[in-house]
Amino acid sequence: MSRIAYVNGRYLPHREAAVSIEDRGYQFADGVYEVIPVLAGRLIDEGLHLDRLARSLGEIRIAPPMTRAALGVVLREVVRRNRVADGMVYLQVTRGVARREHPFPLPGVKPALVVTARRGARVPEAPDGWGIAAITRPDERWARCDIKTIGLLPNVLARQAAREAGAYEAVLIDGAGNVTEGAAANVWIVDAAGVLRTRALGPAILPGCTRAALIGLLGEENIVFEERGFSLDDLRAAREAFLTSATSFVRPLLRLDGAPIGDGEVGPVTRRLFALLATHVAGTRNHAEP
Ligand code: PDD
Repeated sequence: MSRIAYVNGRYLPHREAAVSIEDRGYQFADGVYEVIPVLAGRLIDEGLHLDRLARSLGEIRIAPPMTRAALGVVLREVVRRNRVADGMVYLQVTRGVARREHPFPLPGVKPALVVTARRGARVPEAPDGWGIAAITRPDERWARCDIKTIGLLPNVLARQAAREAGAYEAVLIDGAGNVTEGAAANVWIVDAAGVLRTRALGPAILPGCTRAALIGLLGEENIVFEERGFSLDDLRAAREAFLTSATSFVRPLLRLDGAPIGDGEVGPVTRRLFALLATHVAGTRNHAEP
């Protein structure tokens, strides 16, 4: 079965799906994106992702390509046409097609929208075997990492360095020696004193939807946590660490630069939060369902 993409109003097999060489995403990385998990055919935390998309678009002054409701229909249609049960939807909006000049094109130029879906590994029932190793890298990104732009070169280089080191993720460290986030995930610790922490939102990190969903669940469960950043030394001394992202959910971080974090096994807090998020995503209902 050939994969189907939505490209500017049409559903096309991937081999026929194409954008212009003058698309500003291609020329300037002038666009934003979202990755929305799909589980059992349902979009997970769709509202959070569409809120963040609206914010990203607003921050770089691209008009929404269609209404939120219409976009929801397209996302579901792409999932359906690709028969994705477990996997993800990728959507990208760029400033559109125009002669290559840095300032924005004239107002008539419409934003371009591409949506794809693909199957992925099913998230396991328990976090055992789901843990990963990471390396550390200097955070070389720009000063507005809160916008989910398609300009991901530093992230790509950091993740490639991780792969070449036999690790999965790169944990990014700012100039003050503090952890910002992973190259494609937010980072959490249970610190040496037993406090669950993740860095507060701000321009240095992406406001992760999985992070937001988990924080909501922590509130419901009365689990104490602090939105307080931590240093690389804190991470090395942590009892537990884990990542959150649309594709990792809660992913135990067991080794850093070759050394174990805590005892190098999935810790009790990580295990509990994995279970909490698993219950949350399993309970997600698709808006389009009766
Ligand atoms: N990445 N930080 C960065 C830099 C990210 O790229 C991501 C997600 C996150 C986690 O955000 P969320 O929980 O909303 O997925 C944090 C996606 C999955 C990607 O680029 O593939």
